[in-house]
Amino acid sequence: MKPTLAALSLAAITAASTLVTGTASAADDPIVIKFSHVVAENTPKGLMAQKFQELVAERMGDRVIVEVYPNSQLFGDDKVLEAMQLGDVQLAAPALSKFGRYTKKLALFDLPFLFEDLDAVDRFQQSEAGQGLMSSMEKKGLIGLGYLHSGLKQFSSNEPLRVPEDAAGLKFRIMSSEVLEAQFEALDATPLKKPFSEVFTLLQTKAIDGQESPWSNTYTKKFYEVQPYITESNHGLLDYLVVTSSYFWNGLPDDLRAELKAALDEAVAYGNQVAREKELEDRQKIVESGRTEIITLSPEERAQWVQAMKPVWKQFEDEIGAELIDAAYASNRGN
Ligand code: LMR
Repeated sequence: MKPTLAALSLAAITAASTLVTGTASAADDPIVIKFSHVVAENTPKGLMAQKFQELVAERMGDRVIVEVYPNSQLFGDDKVLEAMQLGDVQLAAPALSKFGRYTKKLALFDLPFLFEDLDAVDRFQQSEAGQGLMSSMEKKGLIGLGYLHSGLKQFSSNEPLRVPEDAAGLKFRIMSSEVLEAQFEALDATPLKKPFSEVFTLLQTKAIDGQESPWSNTYTKKFYEVQPYITESNHGLLDYLVVTSSYFWNGLPDDLRAELKAALDEAVAYGNQVAREKELEDRQKIVESGRTEIITLSPEERAQWVQAMKPVWKQFEDEIGAELIDAAYASNRGN
């Protein structure tokens, strides 16, 4: 659903009044930045948010206060962008999969088997095409401030998944993305769009059979405790866009905006480093738990998953743009 004109006007009024307050009484009344997210604190995004909070406190604590709300405490990802347009939250970092109501372009990042690893993702995100995507929602009042990694996704399930046919007939939780829906339909599985906060219970009660997440979410949200199998598929990407409202951001005093952006860039670089570490560490902790069997695919088995899922690219080529897809795929060549 698109935000209504009324909602956008209200956002403008709310944001304008917030800014007037923040700017006029900056000396004694610091600007409050609410940063809302859905994951645990000990994740790339959770730690990035904390780092940003610390840096802002150190460098501009008299002018700005960052409040971090993890674990969907303030908003789930289904509400956070509307809340941002209304001025109820100033920063968030939803998965790139969750911007479908605002732009079709970011669906690029959901295409299965597009990136071989995080180095390729970095190369594309830092390219002109990748950077250009961050401003694809400006007309809707949202500005991307930076990309943040979570990591490559693995499937988990109640059944061992070795070849695509093993997924047929199973129910998988997905993020709210049409590409992810098509991906599971290509496997003859049933995709269900559900909020992140519900995934553990859905798995525990067997209302669904499986899900897809990077190691850090599977570990910190304990999905591995209720899923007997994880297939190390690295079949897709879960990355984030750190996003703010243009009313809020453009209304900040220039010097403060520049300082905040510098602190954010530093926090994002830190979060991206954490993401690389967590891919290994959280995987290892899951292995050591002995709670779930990790299935490693042979090259032949992996090729079957690629063959089953890659036709999804064609389905979305018109919406995303063939050139953009080619540019993203070409980033693997630096390997
Ligand atoms: C999900 O819904 O699975 C992810 O977007 C959660 C997150 O923010 O990592």
